[in-house]
Amino acid sequence: MIEEFRAVVGPAGVLTEAEDMAGYATDWRHTVTGAPACVLRPRNTAEVSALLKICHERGIAVVPQGGNTGMAAGAVPDGSGRQVVLSLSRMNAIRAVDPLGMTLEAEAGVILKSAQDAAAEAGRLLPISLAAEGSAQIGGVVATNAGGLNVLRYGMARQLVLGLEVVLADGTVVDGLRRLRKDNAGYDWKQLFIGSEGTLGIVTAAVLRLLPRPKHVVTSLLAVADPAAALRLLKLMQEELGDTINAFELISGFSFAIVEKHFGLKAPVAGGGWFVLLEASASLEGLRDAVEGALAQALEEEIALDGVIAESQAQAAQLWALRERVSEAELKEGRGVKHDVSVPIPALPAFLAEAEAAVTAAFPGARLNPFGHAGDGNIHFNVIVTPDTDAARLNRTVHDVVVAHGGSISAEHGIGGYRVAELAHYRAGTELELARRIRLCLDPKAILNPGKVMTAG
Ligand code: FAD
Ligand code: MLT
Ligand code: ZN
Repeated sequence: MIEEFRAVVGPAGVLTEAEDMAGYATDWRHTVTGAPACVLRPRNTAEVSALLKICHERGIAVVPQGGNTGMAAGAVPDGSGRQVVLSLSRMNAIRAVDPLGMTLEAEAGVILKSAQDAAAEAGRLLPISLAAEGSAQIGGVVATNAGGLNVLRYGMARQLVLGLEVVLADGTVVDGLRRLRKDNAGYDWKQLFIGSEGTLGIVTAAVLRLLPRPKHVVTSLLAVADPAAALRLLKLMQEELGDTINAFELISGFSFAIVEKHFGLKAPVAGGGWFVLLEASASLEGLRDAVEGALAQALEEEIALDGVIAESQAQAAQLWALRERVSEAELKEGRGVKHDVSVPIPALPAFLAEAEAAVTAAFPGARLNPFGHAGDGNIHFNVIVTPDTDAARLNRTVHDVVVAHGGSISAEHGIGGYRVAELAHYRAGTELELARRIRLCLDPKAILNPGKVMTAG
């Protein structure tokens, strides 16, 4: 098998030594460590196709991997020693940037930040933004339908993919790299692959939609008493600033406390148990005045207790660092159990109160680290637990509250290997059966990321 792979990608394209494979064998949080048979590093789509043909013929399981920043342990192999990791990292060319057509075509292994920078150089905006953008790759972003910090205004990755090239389980290359805004010619099949977490095909390239780059960006950090006040603030800001709002992030006092503890960064506002990071942008003049006016109103009506507006790009970056460091601080703080949940926006305060009550009653010693994309109804209801905590029971405790509010057990991180039992529990029935049928149809030998998202039967 190894020799067949080497014949396709050359000796440097196949890693077999344990020390070379270590970084591919475990997720960034070190929650799961597998044992890859080897790591394959193709340079182009033809090589991906040839490798898949070999795997398909021999029935070898393939685990696609991008930047390995995923939150659901979807990109790591199991411990059997029989699964191969297919890393797309060497396919890292930005093929084209078209400022007039407002598109960017990139291979799967392009780092998200490089794609953002290429768009910026062309005077355009690639609005997908997340704290892992310096490592996450376009293929991973597409395969997870990543969300992030600007979903409120620009949508998830799904809304920003115009064209896709995928390699199917049997090695067939499907080229749908069109740059069209409008394309109703037949099924929009690419949507099946976006968010499929490596279970339906390998994403080898994508055409992403760009937007006009706003000339003015205003970033503000506000203190609020509680999540209900944060939603009153959201309503006020939407009335005053309309669709100029890119981000409306809610951060708990605990989240900022651990960022200060581990990174020495301190929030420059006081007075609230919770914080809101708000960003608005526009090309027309007057945005800053509008944000200042809205902030003054929020303070006067005591919806916000304190607030600052960044005076410079450097200050804006400092405010964002407070928010973007929360995940890393959580990792340093102890054993974290993640709940990437969404509920209808008005239900957020009730969800947070009920979930807190349920967790603290059932898990003494648990410390809550809630933060996230409140403008999208998406909270990372993460819990730092004691070593003996039964994570599965904790997941069920939180997810029962989520589902009682009509919510989802994964808003943006996906199911991966981490939430398989939870998906089976909450989406059992025709929805999961339909998903299984689609998967079986595209991958009848079940070689693509087996055990992720759902079990075979
Ligand atoms: P990987 O982790 O390598 O893979 C993720 C999944 O996609 C796996 O199932 C893998 O098999 C599959 N996959 C990867 N590449 C391909 C491919 N080319 N073809 C087919 N399948 C493939 N995510 C959010 O949505 N929003 C956030 O705000 C956010 N914040 C984060 C903050 C931090 C600090 C970190 C570390 C992560 C964050 N994430 C967030 C999670 C992660 O960054 C995203 O899910 C990202 O899209 C994963 O990209 P990746 O290249 O690292 O994918
Ligand atoms: C983020 O928004 O920073 C991540 O998606 C959240 C997490 O670490 O759980
Ligand atoms: Zn997030």
